[in-house]
Amino acid sequence: MHMRKHVKGNVSWVGYLDWELETFHGDDYSIFHGSSQNSYLIEEEKTILVDTVWGPHHHTFIENLKQEIDLKKIDAIIVNHGEADHSGALPALLAEIPGTPIYCTAMAVKSLEGQYGKQGWNFHVVKTGDELDIGNGKKLQFVEMRMLHWPDSMAEFLTGDNILFSMDAFGQHYATSELFADLADQNVLWHEALKYFVNILNPFAALIPRKLEEIGKLNLPIEMIAPSHGAIWREKPFPILEKYAEWAKGEPKDQVVIAYDTMWNGTKKIAHAIEAEIKRQSPSTVVKVYHIAKSDKNEVMTEVFQSRAIAVGSPTAINDILASVTGWLAFAKSLKFKGKKAAAFGCYGWSGEGVAILQKRLAEAGFDVIDENVKSLWNPGEEDFAKVPELVKALLA
Ligand SMILES: Cc1cc2nc3c(=O)[nH]c(=O)nc-3n(C[C@H](O)[C@H](O)[C@H](O)COP(=O)(O)O)c2cc1C
Ligand SMILES: [Fe+2]
Ligand SMILES: [Fe+2]
Repeated sequence: MHMRKHVKGNVSWVGYLDWELETFHGDDYSIFHGSSQNSYLIEEEKTILVDTVWGPHHHTFIENLKQEIDLKKIDAIIVNHGEADHSGALPALLAEIPGTPIYCTAMAVKSLEGQYGKQGWNFHVVKTGDELDIGNGKKLQFVEMRMLHWPDSMAEFLTGDNILFSMDAFGQHYATSELFADLADQNVLWHEALKYFVNILNPFAALIPRKLEEIGKLNLPIEMIAPSHGAIWREKPFPILEKYAEWAKGEPKDQVVIAYDTMWNGTKKIAHAIEAEIKRQSPSTVVKVYHIAKSDKNEVMTEVFQSRAIAVGSPTAINDILASVTGWLAFAKSLKFKGKKAAAFGCYGWSGEGVAILQKRLAEAGFDVIDENVKSLWNPGEEDFAKVPELVKALLA
């Protein structure tokens, strides 16, 4: 079985297309459309392998690679990032071709040795501006991508073919046999690109404009952007670059997310009252309602990212809020959203700490919390629903 897919010139895709993957980063990132770990083979005068695949697929990867080339022909391996989804097959590969030079950042030496031990691998540390001559007049030019999304991340540009191997940046967890983004299902592609940005890169969004500017100043005649997951971008002028610049600003749409959990449905009634009132006060505002314990957190956060405000509800339970909401807010905090308003609501039976705790945790998660809230003793009644218009007015202001 031949597994290589032609990318451009003498560059082939030799990665692992994972149609079965259900979660990524343990169970922290949901996968609904598969994913891929992209590895690229460059065959010029020198033969270069760009990244490998996740450990569980090392056998398939190496066996496939052996059908394509004599492994001993590999002159160097580029390790753009030490994370296990791209470096996992390295130990097995290097056992076959020990001593092969590995080009990576200084931080990648640390992350690789940290994970796989000091095995005496033949590291060649590179930094922004360094180049590797691969023959036939072509070079690889390295660009550090520090904290996008690990300290060890880097990218490189292949001259002649003008391909930017961008690593995780611009990737998508999306399995498509089409290889190229313009041939893929556009709805899935763009949803997955955004979900990836929100859940993996948004915490580092502040670094992105500077990095895009730095890459822009290099005046690289980029004709293709080949990330480490999902489809390869080749349509100029690269809408994905424009989208990253836009997403990095975090400017929301006219959208509000209402997210809640409930034990006996009282808090749910408030959620639906808020939804109806938003539509009454502002018919064009898009409203999305999620039951936190029944909804996928990565998908909901993708909607939160696009929203200008959120309303979060929980009943008081054992002098606290429900654990599902605590976990959800902790996750929201880690994504470092900015410039979004938030309101709290929920039912209680006696001590009623829930709403105040929600407000505190929302503020800690970086939201601009409004005072207006709905705190309802047992099931919400008329006097509780009467507070909804004020809450919505403040939330939309
Ligand atoms: C397990 C459990 C623990 C609770 N703990 C508290 C509490 O510490 N303080 C309080 O005010 N109400 C407490 N309540 C009462 C709920 O907050 C109350 O039933 C509320 O109306 C439930 O809202 P819901 O319909 O949205 O689930 C508790 C209820 C349950 C079932
Ligand atoms: Fe990564
Ligand atoms: Fe990755």
